[in-house]
Amino acid sequence: MRAYYRSLKPLILWREVARPIDWAQVFGRTAPVELEIGFGNGEYLVARAQQHPERDFVGIELEWESVQRALRRIAGAGVCNVRLLLGDARPILARAITPRSFVRAYALFPCPWPKKHHHKHRLFDQRQLQLLNSRLQDGGEFYLLTDHEEYFQWVLGNLTDTGFRAFARTVPPSVDTKYERKWLAEGKTCFFELTLTKVEHCEVPLVEDVPMEIYRVRSFDPTRFQPANVSDNVHVIFKETRYDPVRQIAMTRVVVTEDDLVQHFWIEIAREGEVWRIRPAPGCAFIPTVGVQRALDAVKDACEALEG
Ligand SMILES: C[S@@+](CC[C@H](N)C(=O)[O-])C[C@H]1O[C@@H](n2cnc3c(N)ncnc32)[C@H](O)[C@@H]1O
Repeated sequence: MRAYYRSLKPLILWREVARPIDWAQVFGRTAPVELEIGFGNGEYLVARAQQHPERDFVGIELEWESVQRALRRIAGAGVCNVRLLLGDARPILARAITPRSFVRAYALFPCPWPKKHHHKHRLFDQRQLQLLNSRLQDGGEFYLLTDHEEYFQWVLGNLTDTGFRAFARTVPPSVDTKYERKWLAEGKTCFFELTLTKVEHCEVPLVEDVPMEIYRVRSFDPTRFQPANVSDNVHVIFKETRYDPVRQIAMTRVVVTEDDLVQHFWIEIAREGEVWRIRPAPGCAFIPTVGVQRALDAVKDACEALEG
């Protein structure tokens, strides 16, 4: 059987570790840290880590399959100066990374989402550029490479009030990543390169965890329990509820969406002496947010609505 990865050590479970992440502690030294967003199979990230053993490297990637490939590559290269975070770069930068963390950031061939109704998925709108600016050290650089001219122009159009000085040009193939080779094979030989230098700091504070309020209610009726979804600045959607009558534990599955963060987890309603305790189910990795609290509130309200 093929091994998917050889070591999970470079992977940081950002939802479960103490936030913000302390890179000096993670790497065991104080060194300049670089960031790659959407590293794909990790070719460029690992190559840079090999070329610059005096620096540390952090990659954020949405797809688990890509992370597995990058973990294999890291093990194969034997580098110790790379760490990977699985997830959407936007909430990770906002919630796990302190301002002025990185000396350099790059995104190679980010998905251009060409269809208009998909533009909401695009990375590097004005707000995200401000966030990225804040997570770069003063004088730090963000480097973006794309084959897609319309997307490139869109990013250029988002630069107002982002604290960056821009340098844009077309370049020949130079990074030898999977997507560069893909576009090259399709006959594209000219790519769009944008270097953004941080000239002014954008204040985008770290989004802090919200202290969770755990509830206890007097009664719980699994046959009539129906928590109400929430739909305003946060969205809370209840999916299903399971009940174990022997252990007197119910689990309700919920999806909470707020800003760029989507969280799937279970809420436990468990018998505890004379009362029922409501809390996020142990073992579910979640970020304590206003939305998670709203979900707990909705469960409590649904229980109390049934009290006689
Ligand atoms: C077109 S691929 C490019 C991969 C690689 N950089 C290369 O040049 O071969 C874009 C990558 O960005 C990742 N990605 C897309 N949106 C992301 C997000 N919001 N946060 C982190 N990674 C993301 C995708 O999963 C994919 O691996």
